[in-house]
Amino acid sequence: MKIGILTGGGDCPGLNAVIRAAVRKGITAYGDEFVGFKDGWRGPLENDSFPLTLEATRGILPRGGTILGSSRTNPFKRGEDSVAAVVENLSKLDALIAIGGEDTLGVATRLYTEHGVNVVGVPKTIDNDLSATDQTFGFDTAIQVVSDACDRLHTTAESHHRNMLVEVMGRHAGWIALHGGIAGGADIILIPEKPFVLDEIVATLKARHDRGSRASLIVCAEGALPEGGMPDAPTELDEFGHVKLGGIGQWLESQLTGRTGFETRLTQLAYIQRGGTPTAFDRVLGTRLGATAIDGIHAGQFGKMAALRGTKTEMVELTEATGELRTVPLSDYELIEALLG
Ligand code: F6P
Repeated sequence: MKIGILTGGGDCPGLNAVIRAAVRKGITAYGDEFVGFKDGWRGPLENDSFPLTLEATRGILPRGGTILGSSRTNPFKRGEDSVAAVVENLSKLDALIAIGGEDTLGVATRLYTEHGVNVVGVPKTIDNDLSATDQTFGFDTAIQVVSDACDRLHTTAESHHRNMLVEVMGRHAGWIALHGGIAGGADIILIPEKPFVLDEIVATLKARHDRGSRASLIVCAEGALPEGGMPDAPTELDEFGHVKLGGIGQWLESQLTGRTGFETRLTQLAYIQRGGTPTAFDRVLGTRLGATAIDGIHAGQFGKMAALRGTKTEMVELTEATGELRTVPLSDYELIEALLG
């Protein structure tokens, strides 16, 4: 078969593991031929691709990012001609593997259901918020980065008797904040699923101070909000309609310093969470999903996605993955709430 591969959306450690596994298994087990589309959906839109051979994928397992490049191009936002160009360019292939999050897989779903393109998906996002899979690769690497950062911030916070606020990724889901915060021993964790009350955070910090803990650590998801919302919320949108976030950390830093009278310093981990070498877990998960996607293609399972279910990988409906975001159940938060503060 002639198979295309693309990676779309924010990059993610483990993307190269998926590409490598798909290409190696496709060539050696099935005699497939591969092309890599450059920069997400821009590749099929402009027919910009290159041959993906065994040589081209050699040595990429430990490399972060994606050798294919990525973008947030959305052909459906660019009009009928753009969609027609994508469909036409993909018709020269037998199948496409689209590796991405809700946006990239949303485009893949529409190309399959509305235009009959033979697409198979692989879920990707450090945010871990895709439905139909129990974990996405990249998440493990991201929470390791958060945990390491917390360890470092604890010691300098203690030296200077400061509160440290760490802003992490997660627009709608607090998985990185919750798991990174647990691993990093945070005293307060703020997630989008549970609007916070500023007065309660101030009271917690003051109570900790009164008990002699003058160096508290707060982990906050970028999408966390106070009850009633944040004043002056940003409005700039990208092609998928996402607001460019990033204001909550600065707002909280000044509010907490002003309201508690204790110094609070902000660290925004931002793209550090997404860059760099994947953990062993993410390399293994990416490899398993890439191999599952190739088997899925040869079983004719188009319109489906390789997913982790429990400890096994399997093919599930793409529509299941893109219907609804997988947010943190409040019970997960409540389970560890007594450990905070
Ligand atoms: O795609 C996941 C993500 O990492 C989000 O958590 C974050 O808000 C977003 O990407 C930022 O990506 P960019 O600035 O590259 O659009």
